Amino acid sequence: MTGARNSLQAEPLRSLLERLHADARGDRLKFLTLAPRLLAGWIRRKSFAEIITPAAMKEFYIPVSRECGEFLYLTARALGARHVVEFGTSFGISTVYLAAGVRDNGAGRVIGSELEASKQAVATANLEEAGLGPWSEVRLGDALETLREVPEPVDLVFLDGWKDLYLPVLELLTPRLHPGSVVIADNIHTFRKALRPYVEHMQSGAHGFVSTTLDLGEGFEYSVFQGR
Ligand SMILES: C[S@@+](CC[C@H](N)C(=O)[O-])C[C@H]1O[C@@H](n2cnc3c(N)ncnc32)[C@H](O)[C@@H]1O
Repeated sequence: MTGARNSLQAEPLRSLLERLHADARGDRLKFLTLAPRLLAGWIRRKSFAEIITPAAMKEFYIPVSRECGEFLYLTARALGARHVVEFGTSFGISTVYLAAGVRDNGAGRVIGSELEASKQAVATANLEEAGLGPWSEVRLGDALETLREVPEPVDLVFLDGWKDLYLPVLELLTPRLHPGSVVIADNIHTFRKALRPYVEHMQSGAHGFVSTTLDLGEGFEYSVFQGR
């Protein structure tokens, strides 16, 4: 028997992920800089989405935790995933876990999406540094446009962009799924109210999914497509 490959545990990924997760801890201090913006928005009765725009967050990682990243990697491995699509790439931490899964499966590609040009450039460089360039592509622009054409069938979807777009992005990608495809959505606990329509959509049984909320990280909605 040969040893099982897990490139997360080998170089260059081990050191790169160490560095990215350490860098991402800097988000905590950066959040303090948002206080005046939040206060001004709150006084003007703006919605959270109007205040916390992708541009306002362009220096922030807001990444998955290491544990959640490993869960994404293992899900990609369990599915033998070849075609993976991600909504919201930021600096590419989750994308590295997903692309490592695709590479260790032997073939395929992760298609990421990022609205902020500076983040898309850094994410692409991080994936190159990880040796994952051939297994990934981070598309620049609004995911509702950039994910219109993706390699099919899609085995695994990860939703982690702005929360009001989870359902529209899901609607865009559902015709590309096959029975057994998995859709994972982050931040179910953090954005409980905003994501209630998404969770209801997934758990109702009326849209072809069986689904449950996992108490992992900030709450992962884990949904398996059964076909329409
Ligand atoms: C929570 S972060 C993603 C973190 C990343 N998945 C990780 O774990 O490292 C969400 C990202 O979604 C991006 N985003 C927001 N709206 C978007 C849109 N319409 N299309 C593409 N990206 C978008 C934001 O710029 C932000 O970088």
